[in-house]
Amino acid sequence: MFRYFGSKSSTASFVAGIALEGVQVRTAADAFGGLGNIGVEFRARGVEVSTCDLLGFPNAFQSSRIECSRTPSFNAVKSALGVSTSLELENVLSEATVQSGWFVREYSETRQFFTQSNARRIAGAWGAISRWHRMGWLSERERKYAVASLLNSADKCANTAGTYYAYLKNWHRKALKPFQFQWLPIEVAGNRGRAFQGDALTCLRDKQFDLLYLDPPYNNRDYSRYYHLPETLAGLKAVRIDPSSKCGQPLRKSVQGPFIRKAMGLPYLEELTASVRWSRLVVQYADGAHIALARLRPALKAFGSLTEHKIPALGYRTTSGARAHTHHVFIVDR
Ligand SMILES: C[S@@+](CC[C@H](N)C(=O)[O-])C[C@H]1O[C@@H](n2cnc3c(N)ncnc32)[C@H](O)[C@@H]1O
Repeated sequence: MFRYFGSKSSTASFVAGIALEGVQVRTAADAFGGLGNIGVEFRARGVEVSTCDLLGFPNAFQSSRIECSRTPSFNAVKSALGVSTSLELENVLSEATVQSGWFVREYSETRQFFTQSNARRIAGAWGAISRWHRMGWLSERERKYAVASLLNSADKCANTAGTYYAYLKNWHRKALKPFQFQWLPIEVAGNRGRAFQGDALTCLRDKQFDLLYLDPPYNNRDYSRYYHLPETLAGLKAVRIDPSSKCGQPLRKSVQGPFIRKAMGLPYLEELTASVRWSRLVVQYADGAHIALARLRPALKAFGSLTEHKIPALGYRTTSGARAHTHHVFIVDR
């Protein structure tokens, strides 16, 4: 699966289990959904899930994993291209290739994010999806599913240590593997939910859910800058790249930074928690992150009865650079 900073894929199943314990939960919202990992776990347990994220590319993953019950049909594309199965369409996207263009120039020739042959094929698949979009052949769900599948496939051969903030000096073993377009696996179990794109407070204010889950951004890393490349690709339009940017940020700066920084702070979380109607609140937070647990705990307690679980979570770095090994899961019942 796509490597995402702060991804809870390793703890999601356990956390979903304790989050749903002891109460009846029919609806849940994940305000900072990322790739939709916890949403998928809730969905598999029969919950109707709403997820939200500020950025377009996590929204593409969430739409695919939360809103779909099967591979979208792509009927208009299939009839335009004269193909009849999703497998054939997958092959079309795997084999599409371009010789040159902005993506190959910026992210292979100028900056070593992909080998040249992989960049040509990623750009080929991206160009095909962009054209289908321009021709009006894609439903919104199909567009997001094609985008999430492309990003997931490209990430497998990206010459990075995980984020797109830098590329590696030498070619990593996985970057040398040939790019292959593969459809993202679809979770078939459970009700279909909804994926919102936008600021969590704006999208979820006044809505009612049995459970509200929060896994907020917890340090100064601006997701829109660390993941500029998938975010640009998700837009399906060529953009101008800043020539002075080492990692190839778009010339036009993303406008989401201030919203991400706001969501890191306790006042924002308190306002969100007060504005959404819920019966149970679940907050996953790490030791040593932006909000001190000594401040978070009493703030949560003000909303109801609080229980706290600790879970080991490897691979997370605090703002001071030290390794943090513990995640706290706070459960508040009204
Ligand atoms: C810690 S990550 C969540 C990871 C997620 N639980 C997963 O397993 O993939 C935080 C997410 O919050 C999103 N985000 C940041 N500020 C936001 C805001 N104001 N409203 C909605 N989403 C926001 C970021 O884009 C990022 O995807």
